[in-house]
Amino acid sequence: MDAIRIQGGVPLAGDITIGGAKNAALPLMAACLLSDQPLTLVNMPELADIATMGNLLRQHGVTIGQAAFGAGRASPDAGATGRTMTLSADTITSVTAPYDLVRRMRASVLVLGPLLARMGEAKVSLPGGCAIGTRPVDLHLKALEALGAKIEVKEGYIHATAAGGLKGAKVTFPKVTVGGTENLLMAAILASGETILENAAREPEIGNLAECLNAMGADITGIGSGTLTIRGVKTLRAARVAVIPDRIETGTYAIAAAITRGRIKLLGTNYELLDSVFAAMRQAGVTIESQDDGIVVSAEKELVGVDVATEPFPGFPTDMQAQWMALMATANGAAMITETIFENRFMHVPELTRFGADVNVHGASAIVRGRGGKLSGAPVMATDLRASSSLILAGLAASGETLVNRVYHLDRGYERLEEKLGACGARIERISGA
Ligand code: UD1
Repeated sequence: MDAIRIQGGVPLAGDITIGGAKNAALPLMAACLLSDQPLTLVNMPELADIATMGNLLRQHGVTIGQAAFGAGRASPDAGATGRTMTLSADTITSVTAPYDLVRRMRASVLVLGPLLARMGEAKVSLPGGCAIGTRPVDLHLKALEALGAKIEVKEGYIHATAAGGLKGAKVTFPKVTVGGTENLLMAAILASGETILENAAREPEIGNLAECLNAMGADITGIGSGTLTIRGVKTLRAARVAVIPDRIETGTYAIAAAITRGRIKLLGTNYELLDSVFAAMRQAGVTIESQDDGIVVSAEKELVGVDVATEPFPGFPTDMQAQWMALMATANGAAMITETIFENRFMHVPELTRFGADVNVHGASAIVRGRGGKLSGAPVMATDLRASSSLILAGLAASGETLVNRVYHLDRGYERLEEKLGACGARIERISGA
């Protein structure tokens, strides 16, 4: 297994180009299953999770063509970087998503809605637990049942059928769920009649999916709000859609600038995607300037502790919570960090304390007592994707050497991380097979 070694304490300076959002790209890829016409996605990131979704789709019968565009080099689509991927699902050869692929990535469950809608049947392995909590899919299933699906869970598989096709209905999610909203959106576009989805997730990735479905011929209104209205259609057409910039990658590198008291210009991204995080950073004393060609993040002075609580969009994202904790460990004074989305998302705390961070967890909240930048490098173990990035950030800020083990988690969500940070002066290297 690879590890990452960092010699910390260097203020970072330079430009970083942000890639397409993993969490937008995954549902967009799954959407190809809805239609026998090709779907072309531009600004695709190159990540392990994208490869996993590609493998899952291939075994459903999808053919995938890819064209590479080097990092930072403009593709023929204005402003876009990254790869272009064309997915063609003219024939679905299997409606089963097997355990072996689904267990690697929970987002695999996103094939359920489109397969059921198009084929009248889907058999998808239950994703099972993961490091950050139990993460059930009960809300996905209840919503699909409301559209008339019959669902049986047996032998570890969700077996969903809709012999006469799905029928539009009013669905109110009791809790905001990103994946549940995406699965239902995809199922509802081929249902007969109208579906009204209340308490839908408002994450920008949902907007990206809904716009893509509309480009394919769907009729979805209310995009960006908590109520989505979907009028079912019979056929879909070919479409070409750009993946939005990755707001979590944006936020992670913004914190890399702040935590090293450096200055980084973030290119190819969008300020509005991360309002809540930038507001908290400003409050902590970080300077953020939105310019025509990018966002400049710098921190020359001492930072102060700022409390945050994770919430569905537009609130502070749970996927930035661990990185925020690393930053707060270098501020002056206390910060309370409350996690409201996942019940077990403080796995990074024991690892951060290895750097000398002073963090105490009380139920769903953690109190960080900042030590004004005095962290020291340590060998640590990554537990999940965003926890891994918080350890990288702490390592960049800490004096001396840090070795982050089990970095395969990072490769699921950060493209060429060492290269991007290295270009800003970080002394960071990957050690293969450590
Ligand atoms: C997505 C993101 C993930 C992010 C999360 C919250 C992707 C691929 N992943 O995950 O990075 O951290 O949103 O912003 O986009 N829940 C239920 N029953 C369900 C579904 C969810 O109880 O059927 C609960 C979950 O356990 C969790 C909360 O609802 O406590 C929110 O989960 P959800 O928004 O569904 O997260 P994901 O879509 O899995």
